[in-house]
Amino acid sequence: MRIRRSLIDLDDLTGEEIAAIFEQTAKFEATAPGRRLAGKTCVNMFFEDSTRTFTSFNMAELRLGADVVNLAPRNLSLSSKGETLEDTAMTLGAMGISVLVVRHPEAGFPQRFALRFDGHVVNAGDGVHAHPTQALLDIYTLIEEFGELKGRAVAIVGDVLHSRVAHSAMRGLSRLGATVVLVGPEAFLPGSYAGDGVRVERDFDAILPEVDAVVLLRIQRERFVEMPISDQEYVAAYRLDHRRLRLLRKEAIVMHPGPYNRGMELDDSVLDFAGWRYARQVHHGVAIRMAVLDLLVNARSL
Ligand code: NCD
Repeated sequence: MRIRRSLIDLDDLTGEEIAAIFEQTAKFEATAPGRRLAGKTCVNMFFEDSTRTFTSFNMAELRLGADVVNLAPRNLSLSSKGETLEDTAMTLGAMGISVLVVRHPEAGFPQRFALRFDGHVVNAGDGVHAHPTQALLDIYTLIEEFGELKGRAVAIVGDVLHSRVAHSAMRGLSRLGATVVLVGPEAFLPGSYAGDGVRVERDFDAILPEVDAVVLLRIQRERFVEMPISDQEYVAAYRLDHRRLRLLRKEAIVMHPGPYNRGMELDDSVLDFAGWRYARQVHHGVAIRMAVLDLLVNARSL
């Protein structure tokens, strides 16, 4: 039961809760939220580099009036003094910390923490497993653009295998009735990903005229040892460039969770494209995280 108070992946949220988060996000963007987390302490523990997610969680916590502690992994006894994850979680809980935001290279780490921590854990990305707040802000950006997602097609392109963003987003999108078209080479996208509401395609050019949105992914080189295909082969088949942009429908949009690598998954023409929504995604990230924190801490249903 205690795990229900945390957000490890989108599956922890009901459809109604996701709708409530989106409604609250719109309100938080429209008017100053008030100190809904006053007197609560949020600890951010990021064991991996992060620009967007880290800053955005910090801003969300501060805007809600929380007390914020940023714990650098190298300063943790967990890293250098042999303290176990379970004992660290228990210790932080005993201080009365209400929310722990955790990013870790190991899949399952935030969940293990949540089982021992007497408070709320928010997964800010765990290995290749999940990144629920990124998926929420991506879906929010798509809904802002298209309204209802039923019947819409969203292509997620590139290194799907190592992308926690893709893993969370595809579940959320298919739950909302969108068709997810995964696109990439076999090495980054095994055929076994195909399933309910999810198609696997190899030919990027062929699907571009069919989809409403394209989500580009970074090749996550830190998560595998050797690049399975050459950079040149990847670029030739999957980089979104000037020519491929012209294959898109007029109203189609392009998204990226960031950080993007210019020259690999996109070229500079994408950054000037009228449908490029990266800044919108980053913008929504703050209020989405405010809404998630507010739901976990203040709502009775979780
Ligand atoms: C992603 C991540 O860290 O999972 N970035 C993010 O949080 N916006 C994607 C990536 O690293 O490529």
